[in-house]
Amino acid sequence: MIEWLAIPAIALGAALIPGKKMTDEKKIQQIFENRKVGINQGENFLHPILIRKYNHSTYTTYIYSLPLGVPSEAFETFIPVLKDGLNKDVEIEFDDVLKINVFEQGLPSSWNYDDTLLQADTWEIPVGKNHKGILYHDFEKYPHMLVGGVTRFGKTVLIKETFYTLLMNQIKNVEFYFLDLKGGLEFGKYEGLPQVKAVASDVFEAAEVLSDIVDDLKKREKMFRAKGYTNIVDTPIKKRTFVIVDEGAELSPNIIAGEGKKYAKFCQAALSEISRIGGGLGLRLIYCTQYPTKEAVPMQVKMNIVARISFIAAAQIASMVILDEKGAEDLPSTPGRAIYKIEKKRVVQVPYIDDKYMMEKMEERENEIIHATANRKPVNDNRPTEYDENTPPAANT
Ligand SMILES: Nc1ncnc2c1ncn2[C@@H]1O[C@H](COP(=O)(O)OP(=O)(O)OP(=O)(O)O)[C@@H](O)[C@H]1O
Ligand SMILES: [Mg+2]
Repeated sequence: MIEWLAIPAIALGAALIPGKKMTDEKKIQQIFENRKVGINQGENFLHPILIRKYNHSTYTTYIYSLPLGVPSEAFETFIPVLKDGLNKDVEIEFDDVLKINVFEQGLPSSWNYDDTLLQADTWEIPVGKNHKGILYHDFEKYPHMLVGGVTRFGKTVLIKETFYTLLMNQIKNVEFYFLDLKGGLEFGKYEGLPQVKAVASDVFEAAEVLSDIVDDLKKREKMFRAKGYTNIVDTPIKKRTFVIVDEGAELSPNIIAGEGKKYAKFCQAALSEISRIGGGLGLRLIYCTQYPTKEAVPMQVKMNIVARISFIAAAQIASMVILDEKGAEDLPSTPGRAIYKIEKKRVVQVPYIDDKYMMEKMEERENEIIHATANRKPVNDNRPTEYDENTPPAANT
């Protein structure tokens, strides 16, 4: 083993290749030593110590105790090193101890959406597959979502999949506002559905739509106050309203020029309001952008969004804007590969869906979709007249 000590860290990836018989456990230990992971204590250099190891069917978990004083962030940069060294997918977690999951197989480079993913009557959408199974995002727990990543890696596909899932699971209770700022090209075709309240395709239309939403928000707030409600999830109200922004940068007053500027200002203020107080009142904001800068992602909006998804980012700084952490810049250049972050980051492969599938399935349930809102029953009868949460969306306009 002595020769390993002489190998400079830089040659590590290559150096591990001849030692094919080496176990992953040994390799990790070796990487700790070569990379000097640990701290100096007097004469000794203390490395993390393996305290437990669990074999699962598709992956192995190694648990290390860390010498006091080793900063946990130090291990972030270490993930690519481990991946290269082991030639396997790796996930790191901290929880007083250092937990390294080493996966036997990589994630699929693509997988198709199908209706078995639907969970009727819930507000959950499948965000993707990771090594342990399919992860769902629950909009009842985390009402808003921030989505970023460079162009052509799957933001719009994720929104489509979200829209389709929510529509099919909650035909009677869901409504959507699309701010489809790439010209209304993607979502304009769904404008005819009773659940789709409006599709705005530029900053002027967006301002109009957001102004209606904010007015409605004020009425809801008043109604909630009158009834002593604090969060919609604890009320009998079933309706949820999704505001989906595809290309938020188009609403940035610092980015757009001329006449649009003041409309953009209004839009950003409205979106901040929605993210700040809308969650408890039944609004859900999904905000996407390929330009992860502070101009394109207003601080107020970002601060109020816990759930983040980033596809591959152009640079570390872009990852920081979306996830508040680095990592998205190191994703492989596979469309649909993303980091989903609630409390911790998880790499997933988002299911792929296309318009053809969505259209076919929607046609199969056309009657249900079209008539979904016609017979909606009031939940309670002493609701205030100025705001009626049970009014069918079709009659609300
Ligand atoms: N989950 C996925 N699985 C497999 N392929 C995908 C997935 N998502 C996207 N792709 C591929 O990448 C292409 C671009 O995806 P999409 O339009 O969603 O990108 P985008 O991030 O919205 O780009 P832009 O920022 O330019 O709008 C799709 O047409 C598809 O071929
Ligand atoms: Mg797009």
